[in-house]
Amino acid sequence: MVKGVFIKTYGCQMNVYDSARMIELLAPLGFLPVTAPNDADLVILNTCHVREKAAEKVYSELGKIHRLKIAKAHCGDTLIVAVGGCVAQAEGAEILHRAPFVDLVFGPQSYHRLPELVVGALRKGSARVLDTNFPAEPKFDYLPEASAAQGVTAFLTVQEGCDKFCSFCVVPYTRGAEYSRPVAQVLSEARRGVGEGVREITLLGQNVNAYHGEGPDGKDWGLGELIRGLAELPGLDRIRYTTSHPGDVDDGLIAAHRDVPQLMPFVHLPVQSGADRVLSAMNRRHTADVYRRIVDRLRSARSDLALSSDFIVGFPGESEKDFLATLDLAGEIGFAQAFSFKYSRRPGTPAASVASQVPESVKSYRLDVLQRLLKKQQHDFNEACVGQVLPVLLEKPGRCDGQLVGRSPYLQSVHVAAPGRLGEIVLVAISGTSANSLSGSLAPAVKA
Ligand code: SAH
Ligand code: SF4
Ligand code: F3S
Repeated sequence: MVKGVFIKTYGCQMNVYDSARMIELLAPLGFLPVTAPNDADLVILNTCHVREKAAEKVYSELGKIHRLKIAKAHCGDTLIVAVGGCVAQAEGAEILHRAPFVDLVFGPQSYHRLPELVVGALRKGSARVLDTNFPAEPKFDYLPEASAAQGVTAFLTVQEGCDKFCSFCVVPYTRGAEYSRPVAQVLSEARRGVGEGVREITLLGQNVNAYHGEGPDGKDWGLGELIRGLAELPGLDRIRYTTSHPGDVDDGLIAAHRDVPQLMPFVHLPVQSGADRVLSAMNRRHTADVYRRIVDRLRSARSDLALSSDFIVGFPGESEKDFLATLDLAGEIGFAQAFSFKYSRRPGTPAASVASQVPESVKSYRLDVLQRLLKKQQHDFNEACVGQVLPVLLEKPGRCDGQLVGRSPYLQSVHVAAPGRLGEIVLVAISGTSANSLSGSLAPAVKA
């Protein structure tokens, strides 16, 4: 019998990738994805633990799911409730305690076992399960080959976990040690996607540029070499990667930006702070000047390269002078896009127990000031695109008839009237911008 599975995904793109793989894993059990929890026999929350707010959302969503489970039970229907992802990994036992109606809890490294866990839960009266092990064998060896390409763009996880232990961050604890998938496995997944119509692949990893997968030659390949390997796949027109750590930007990656036209000129390179004192307390292992030099080298390799970043304000001990150094750095580099957050105390991380926590009101003020600057930079970057002709990969229908939405090389959303051209890369004459997107018209009679 066909059953419905509803997955709600929080957090980073790696969770988005994992959720897609969970759908594939569950298909042989007769589960098809549904778009509302009401239609589901199995609800999975794929969670994020990176900031307090992200974790809190899970418990409030679980409240709603509980009411749904009770309502379904009144009608004689069963709803299996599962919590996966990074909150599950970090606080699995607490979830089972706080939410007794949750049937399954599993971590990001054990979701390949989902089918057996769900089969167990379907058996009435079976015990609740907590599976947050870090198995000795990488889960990728147990996942079916990815097949559910849903459009012209796809995520492909090539690296997982993190050994960096920045003092604010939970990721090394929730995702475990760094692991790189072998090159052959990555190429095979990419080839399959391209065969199903994928034209752009975003390589994913918590530290994607720490990638060092075993190559077909028996040697470890870096991300630059992997990108070159992927660029040989006919039909793969665009390659991106995220998220990178400044300390792992090596010569091979910079050279790939110079030599590989398929590699898009847009890099998300989190800096977190512009003050060396703070960077050191964060255990980031780079200074503000090292970051500046990396950006210079990337821009020399590819002159139109655009940058995005992550910032944390109000890290313990951050002074006004430190914050001003962050504003200076952002002002100098000029980001096309950026994410900024107030420091959030995460239990178990070194920075959480530091005495000199910054008051909430100061964090809010600093975030506001930084975000105004970053918003202005994004606006200026978008404005500078007006009058240019950009190649746009058309990904999905827009709001109006005949309108499609795609991405520029710099990851901006572009709206354009282009009836029947879904999935194509077209040249768009950019004529307008709004806060987060560009608009334009098809450049006359040319196809990219
Ligand atoms: N691996 C990436 C980022 C992973 S988490 C890197 O090394 O940069 C994504 C972003 O969340 C981080 O870049 C950071 O800006 C933010 N973040 C992580 N922990 C945080 C915390 N405790 N408080 C606020 N922001 C945090
Ligand atoms: Fe977290 Fe730092 Fe690892 Fe990024 S590099 S995932 S911020 S510990
Ligand atoms: Fe969140 Fe885990 Fe990703 S904590 S950011 S879902 S690695």
